Amino acid sequence: MSVLRYLNRCMLFKHNSTGLLAQSTLFHKSSTRNSKNDYLINSTEYSFLKDIGIEQDNCGVYNGTWKGSGELVAAIDPGSGRKIANVRMGSVQEMDEAIKLGAEAYKEWSQLPAPQRGEIVRQIGDELRKYKEPLSKLVSLEVGKIYTEGLGEVQEFIDICDYAAGLSRMYAGQVINSERADHTILETWRPLGLVGIISAYNFPNAVFGWNAAIALTVGNTCLWKGSPCTSLIAVATTKIVADIFKRNNLPPASLLCQGGPNVGQKLVSDPRVKLVSFTGSCETGRNVAVEVQKRFGKSILELGGNNALVIDEDANFDTALYAAVFGGLATGGQRCTSTRRVIVHETLYDRLVQGMIAQYKKVIPRIGHQLDPNTLVGPVHSQLSVEKYKNAIDEAVRHGGKIAFGGKVIQRDGFFIEPTIITDLPHDAPVVHRETFAPIVYILKASSLEQAIEWNNEVYQGLSSSIFTENISNAFKWMGPQGSDCGVVNINTSTNGAEIGGAFGGEKYTGGGRESGSDAWKAYCKRATVVLNHSGKMAFAQGVVFDV
Ligand code: UN1
Repeated sequence: MSVLRYLNRCMLFKHNSTGLLAQSTLFHKSSTRNSKNDYLINSTEYSFLKDIGIEQDNCGVYNGTWKGSGELVAAIDPGSGRKIANVRMGSVQEMDEAIKLGAEAYKEWSQLPAPQRGEIVRQIGDELRKYKEPLSKLVSLEVGKIYTEGLGEVQEFIDICDYAAGLSRMYAGQVINSERADHTILETWRPLGLVGIISAYNFPNAVFGWNAAIALTVGNTCLWKGSPCTSLIAVATTKIVADIFKRNNLPPASLLCQGGPNVGQKLVSDPRVKLVSFTGSCETGRNVAVEVQKRFGKSILELGGNNALVIDEDANFDTALYAAVFGGLATGGQRCTSTRRVIVHETLYDRLVQGMIAQYKKVIPRIGHQLDPNTLVGPVHSQLSVEKYKNAIDEAVRHGGKIAFGGKVIQRDGFFIEPTIITDLPHDAPVVHRETFAPIVYILKASSLEQAIEWNNEVYQGLSSSIFTENISNAFKWMGPQGSDCGVVNINTSTNGAEIGGAFGGEKYTGGGRESGSDAWKAYCKRATVVLNHSGKMAFAQGVVFDV
């Protein structure tokens, strides 16, 4: 399909100063004149979609019942450019209704003992296990990631459900010694109310999962707006989750309202939404944060990364090379944790460049449709991703970058580009400092560990980072105060592929939010300091005497 024809069929939302949630995404408005054969869902190969409740036309709003009165938008298979099925978006009015319902459901849900809430989340995990195969295939199909990564994404949701079920019996405040006789200070963690979750196209199932599992367990209700270009996954996931609440005769504590920027704006600005967890670009994230702050709401931001993999002179070379290849190629470079920069010691530079080229060459025959079992690198998600890739390559070349591998768009149906390695750019070239959501890796030659750390830290973003070293002092330096300034600071493993057990998120323009494991649950709560006087008389702190 030519770019022009493609763009003519789409509506392009651009960043602008008034639209808070202007999303750089392509909306495929669906024409009513389409025939059945236009949709993949109607061919036997894709009948698995029906096993998870997807039809040719789907409602994109779950307000307790399924509805949607906005535009009919076609979900596109990035591996062929063909339509999968349609989703009817929600309106601002429907988002308003969903907020009302979510705030209402909170009253009952938050009253359940935490272990009972954990049990419901455990059941969600079990239900996901039941539908893991078709759901993962849909994740693969609609995003463009290969099937094993689709499975991995749904597994991440399952893992966090297990984690949350345990957490429900373990999360706790503390008892603090009071300075007053026969007084006790308790610290308690209470839910916030309705939590809004806005997720991006690249992890459309797991990001909702790790937010919702924890938010629900600590007693909140959730209202999700997924990326408009992965609406089928949002619908299928919500069907699985909603059914569990129904079966347990509980109010719908997890709601969905798909839609464009206006719908997102409503979710972000409404004071009934106590916390907004936003995953997406730094630019949109900043707008979200400001808007939420205006009403003194809470936000969790999981924004862009510009992740470096540092290879020290004594690194285990083969492992480092493998990590660099996985970091650059997995999910077609469309993870916020993807390796964008490889900073390698000058003594290993030539070997690393040659090694990466050799590995990338092996991958070329394995670029293909994301559901083909032979494929290692699928398409990028949309034509917009292709355009951003081309712009980055042009800019890199203009600034003296050398394309060591790839650099071209692949002419076939769908959105395919060559994985790309670029050398010879200055470490601080603007294109190197920008996050391009595509499989482009810049290799930079450093002369010392100090220099590598300086370059690692000089970008705006601060999500993930990794060093390969066998030198224990350097490993400790890397994780110390003068080391990597990121939220994820790995040693001898890839920048991408974080587990749910640790807190996930990053510093600086990445937004500072933490999700998933460790004590990230605290961000979904409000803390109360409770002073309990069991002395039978009044006593004032700091020894103040106040005799009336
Ligand atoms: C993202 O790309 O938004 O660490 C999240 C990883 C995954 C999550 C990526 N567990 O790569």
